[in-house]
Amino acid sequence: MTTATEAPQDLTAEQEQFDRLIADDSRIEPRDWMPEAYRKTLARQISQHAHSEIIGMQPEANWITRAPSLKRKAILMAKVQDEAGHGLYLYSAAETLGTTRDQMMADLIAGKARYSSIFNYPARTWADMGAIGWLVDGAAIANQVPLCRASYGPYGRAMVRICKEESFHQRQGFEILLELANGTEAQKQMAQDAVNRWYAPSLMMFGPPDDDSPNSKQSMAWNIKRFSNDELRSRFVGMIVEQVKTLGLTLPDDEIGYNEESGKWEHDPLDWDEFKEVLAGRGPCNAQRLERRREAHDDGAWVREAAAAYAAKQAEKRTMEEAA
Ligand SMILES: [Fe+2]
Ligand SMILES: [Fe+2]
Repeated sequence: MTTATEAPQDLTAEQEQFDRLIADDSRIEPRDWMPEAYRKTLARQISQHAHSEIIGMQPEANWITRAPSLKRKAILMAKVQDEAGHGLYLYSAAETLGTTRDQMMADLIAGKARYSSIFNYPARTWADMGAIGWLVDGAAIANQVPLCRASYGPYGRAMVRICKEESFHQRQGFEILLELANGTEAQKQMAQDAVNRWYAPSLMMFGPPDDDSPNSKQSMAWNIKRFSNDELRSRFVGMIVEQVKTLGLTLPDDEIGYNEESGKWEHDPLDWDEFKEVLAGRGPCNAQRLERRREAHDDGAWVREAAAAYAAKQAEKRTMEEAA
């Protein structure tokens, strides 16, 4: 029996239990009580992440029919398909927090939901497939490896599998660039141009600088986020600064250097006004990306209807079998 006076005490006990799990670095599962703000933060983050995976299929899907060989086409198709799978795991993880996938999709299509601003840049040449794999998937890995330990169970577990596939994506991108960089002068130029265009946007994938990222602190206190935006960005710079040497290419940044005192990699200041513009929907491809997603959603209506009809039929069959 619950009385009015007991309710606040229960809530405190639940909050204490939650705080204990977080302090022990344990996992919060869907059945556990959680503060509303924790639930909302995660629902927003995981759904945005899911949207990024499926919108992120577009710049590369655009090149499947123009891949330079059958082998490249098969690899690119597998990669784009992986991204659809990542979306699926993440929508499923987000659904455990109480929002339906239909609702999340409706918000995306209505332009109410955000996704990573990187996918609003165009993929102009075949070398962009290399730069996206190396830099964009590379930044995604740097961001996501610590998320494998996120306090919310379904999110952390989804990230483990995603990260394994992302490392294949990064290597395939690197290998495309390596081949181009060792090809003709024109191919090398094409690779360098792609790196030049994707470098700064990929650094911005880690989010705004720490002093302009008000929610980061709370996310870190909840063990969702393990490292700050600037920390992750610095690590990523340290990683690619070495890898670019193997490619025989350069990064378009004169300021890159390791600061012994801070233990951080430093880089050119990034254009955060551009970042905000793209995030606000005014990037080069925002309208096109959403339009394409709407079309794909409409085109897929019959598949959803057929799947629902099949599920209903199976359920009916089971009920009849149970009754017999
Ligand atoms: Fe992905
Ligand atoms: Fe990927």
